[in-house]
Amino acid sequence: MTHALLEVKHLDKHFGGLHVLKDINITVQEGEIVGVLGPNGAGKTTLFNLLTGFIPADEGQVLLRGKSLREMRSNDIVGLGVARTFQLCRPFVGLTVLENVLVGSLGPRVKTDDIGARAMHLLDQVGLAGKAHTASELLSYGDLRRLEIARALATDPELLLLDEPFAGLGSSEIEALSELIRKLHREQKLTIMLIEHKLREFMQLVSRVVAIDFGEVIAEGVPADIVNNPRVIEAYIGRQNPLEQTQHA
Ligand SMILES: Nc1ncnc2c1ncn2[C@@H]1O[C@H](COP(=O)(O)OP(=O)(O)O)[C@@H](O)[C@H]1O
Ligand SMILES: [Mg+2]
Repeated sequence: MTHALLEVKHLDKHFGGLHVLKDINITVQEGEIVGVLGPNGAGKTTLFNLLTGFIPADEGQVLLRGKSLREMRSNDIVGLGVARTFQLCRPFVGLTVLENVLVGSLGPRVKTDDIGARAMHLLDQVGLAGKAHTASELLSYGDLRRLEIARALATDPELLLLDEPFAGLGSSEIEALSELIRKLHREQKLTIMLIEHKLREFMQLVSRVVAIDFGEVIAEGVPADIVNNPRVIEAYIGRQNPLEQTQHA
């Protein structure tokens, strides 16, 4: 039997008295770009934290190609091919751009003898080759986002989780980063889950959307259906259809 790349089954999480995720069920097939949509505080980042072993679930299962990730630590999960970026960029301060990517290369999936050349190639792919020897703390926000992605790619993921990659970026940077994500998906056969509030770009990137509100999946479907879903409109996007917004909206 062939398994989906990722299956999330009955996932549940409390923080004290706060019920943050309630019986979440999501299946992601290889090659999809699945968008996770929802208002601030809905539980999106917590979902990524559970998928990557940063925090444990109370109940439920996460299966990667049918294999349970329960009790696994985040390092082990990276070793199985799941990488993430953070809502707030977290470079290894004190290291150069290249060194940041080299740290990402230290996992068990990277078999090449020349991790330096591989890291440079990754920096080239994300448009940072010219800044390889720059101190990471000197990068602009847009470049930090690119570095986060390069560092995640350095672990050789099959599944890449992007937590608000466009946050804090201007519209031309968002467009460029969108194009980069599209290129990586196409050329590296990556499966991607994407949390984002920039709805126009989000809806154009993703093949399917899972909408979450107050820790519950309230809708799931292709972007054209999600933007017309009454529960999603009520909880989050309002009346404006982001697929119809103009370039400068
Ligand atoms: N480590 C934590 N401890 C306690 N509460 C948390 C923790 N992480 C998140 N929360 C709370 O859980 C809820 C969901 O947060 P989060 O997953 O970050 O939402 P989103 O990413 O959708 O904005 C929020 O109410 C947040 O304050
Ligand atoms: Mg978040």
